Amino acid sequence: MKRIGVREPSSIDSRVHSLLATFSEEFDRSPSEATAYYAPGRVNLIGEHTDYNGGYVLPAAIDYGTIALTSRRDDGVVRFVSTSRQVKVAVHVDDIRPDPANDWANYPLGVVYKLRRAGVEVGGVDMLIDGDIPGGGLSSSASLELATAVALLGVWNQTMDRVELVKLCQKVENEFVGINSGIMDQYAVGMGKAGYAIFLDCGKLIHRYVPLRLPGYKIVISNTKKPRHLVDSKYNERRAQCEEALRMLKSVLPNIECLTDVSIDEFEAHSGVIDDPVVRNRAEHIVYENARVLSAVTALEAGDLNEFGRLMVESHNSLRDLYEVTGIELDSLVEEALKVDGVVGSRMTGGGFGGCTVSIVKQDQIDEFARRVAEGYTRTTGLTPEFYVTGAADGARKM
Ligand code: GLA
Repeated sequence: MKRIGVREPSSIDSRVHSLLATFSEEFDRSPSEATAYYAPGRVNLIGEHTDYNGGYVLPAAIDYGTIALTSRRDDGVVRFVSTSRQVKVAVHVDDIRPDPANDWANYPLGVVYKLRRAGVEVGGVDMLIDGDIPGGGLSSSASLELATAVALLGVWNQTMDRVELVKLCQKVENEFVGINSGIMDQYAVGMGKAGYAIFLDCGKLIHRYVPLRLPGYKIVISNTKKPRHLVDSKYNERRAQCEEALRMLKSVLPNIECLTDVSIDEFEAHSGVIDDPVVRNRAEHIVYENARVLSAVTALEAGDLNEFGRLMVESHNSLRDLYEVTGIELDSLVEEALKVDGVVGSRMTGGGFGGCTVSIVKQDQIDEFARRVAEGYTRTTGLTPEFYVTGAADGARKM
């Protein structure tokens, strides 16, 4: 029996296959001239808003992603066609600049621009881009950046250290597109490994793969489908509050460089120097969330799924009460999820203010989960959620 309302990943090979005709039509080239590149999206299991505070995160690449069917051109023109956005752009590499009127194209164009600025010899391409990452909080933009980047390097026979490429793609987002995000998304998309979560130290930019052993369980992503607006300004406000908290804590802890350098004991002893209670709450979330990532890794490595799930819920509650980035939609999804038997943990994932939650659900309960969560969620919010099953996937690559 087919599951109702729960999406399963599609095969990348069959997606590539069905795109070849479009590639051929759009660019008037033979399908055999196209090389397929791919980059996944990501889900963060725990460690939210810690990346730009120099802390720990635990994301995984997911089974949904961006395909870039690509051919090299020798006339210096880059042509990008998006199947899902119905966008087509063609511009000479020397004329690339951000175009506020076409926000989607700024991602692939920014990648070309930044690679060339870094002295990497990439030039013209024809690229058909097809993404199947559901919108809102699963890093479709980092996926688009990394898919474009590996495709450009590939067809132009260039190589680049992967972590450098990840950092370059973050710069595309920060400096070319103008979104002030941290390093987690690009890192997870660039460094994902099938079957593993990525335990990343965002300050040192070093990681360790942690086996994501979930016997009998699956990761289920639930999408609020809430229209997102003002997300960037609220994100920037949180960042500014963290900087303010850091400044104040430095007056008593002169050796700290970021909020995640502060231990729980130090925070409890000195949090009084942060006079604004809201700013103090933000800092409290960061300090405890960072510690939770370490506990979560220990739990996962010990095979203690219940403890892992408990930490997920604690993380959500802290994001709700102290960091205040959830809202009725994310809270309702989590609340409904936790009522269902066979759910070990559930929390918001990504930046918040809408977007998605991540839950760990017993495999044979997934249909029941979707049915019950949808029912309760729609009753509370009037919105219809979506559900996607995923494993932990490999990072950006040539197919
Ligand atoms: C967004 C950003 C990430 C990270 C998360 C919160 O997804 O792009 O860099 O800050 O929010 O953890």
